[in-house]
Amino acid sequence: DKGNFRHFMAKEIHQQPEVIGHTLSRYLDLANMKTVLEGAEKIDFSKLDRLIISACGTAYYAGLVAKYWFEKVARLPVDIDIASEFRYREMPVKAGDLALFISQSGETADTLAGLRYCKGEGMTIAAVVNVPESTIAREADVVFPTVAGPEIGVASTKAFTCQLSVLAALAVHAGYQRGHLDDKGAAELVRALGETPGYVNRALALESEIEALAQPLSRASDVLYLGRGTSFPLAMEGALKLKEISYIHAEGYAAGELKHGPIALIDEDMPVIVIAPHDPIFEKTVSNMQEVAARGGKIILITDEKGAEASAALAWKTIALPDVPEFVAPIIHALPVQLLAYHTAVFMGTDVDQPRNLAKSVTVE
Ligand code: F6R
Repeated sequence: DKGNFRHFMAKEIHQQPEVIGHTLSRYLDLANMKTVLEGAEKIDFSKLDRLIISACGTAYYAGLVAKYWFEKVARLPVDIDIASEFRYREMPVKAGDLALFISQSGETADTLAGLRYCKGEGMTIAAVVNVPESTIAREADVVFPTVAGPEIGVASTKAFTCQLSVLAALAVHAGYQRGHLDDKGAAELVRALGETPGYVNRALALESEIEALAQPLSRASDVLYLGRGTSFPLAMEGALKLKEISYIHAEGYAAGELKHGPIALIDEDMPVIVIAPHDPIFEKTVSNMQEVAARGGKIILITDEKGAEASAALAWKTIALPDVPEFVAPIIHALPVQLLAYHTAVFMGTDVDQPRNLAKSVTVE
């Protein structure tokens, strides 16, 4: 049932404040400003040398954001790879270390094969999954469910932000256990996470501004997405979302890699979508924006109010999200990225919920 929405994808985008709230309520004790991870007794993060993460597609990008979180907040090194590569790489792993698999469906063949490899090597297996009765959930030692509800649209939206929410709570938990966060530090991040449903609501309020970009974007044959830090995986997620539902070719790049190749593509016809919250590396992304602007590139800047104040002049259009704590910014910045792909596809008249050649659950490799 699509309710009042034209597509399941629209409904699922709009469900995000609610389902992120549901998901986080499983992992946060907001009365005491602590994380509560059911099943996590089996995991002692203070004993880990590293964490291995593997997944496919959008779930992989969630894992890539989590790498930045685990390394910064918990000082836990993360090795992450797409599951189709990981499963055949015969990576040397340590028995007893932790491997984490992320999957909406819990049935993705490559992700499952990576899980089985790690299990065979004696690793502890954790899974972030949305379908609780799925194969990946059954075969994992510890399951961290996302409570996004059934996701019908082939392009993943609410599952992604719920995966991010779970992973953020896990990173805080790990940071606390490893002694890199004290009570106060953990409480600050828990409070920020507790406020994400409200921030996501405010991001949704920008929908008509974002929809207005659909028509100009629909005329592009190629679109470049740029970001640094946690915005780099968001850039790749944005490009994936746009190509899968609008069939416009798009690439997500680390902003710092621009001058190592893709800058050759920049001209007046090439929209460049820059994702840049006003964080400590904001100025570095601004210098990349200057390089794009100097070559006539059309910049759509997805930032926050502070970032818009500082740099909207360089951009052709700016989407200004609310200013939020740096830790939760990737969850909030995912919204305009989803809405932009959605409205561009709707404007172009593609089959948004059932894009050509794609299946919701990829159970063959
Ligand atoms: C993109 C998308 C896919 C999936 C990928 C993994 O919008 O939906 O890239 O994210 O196929 O699927 P799950 O999460 O079910 O393992």
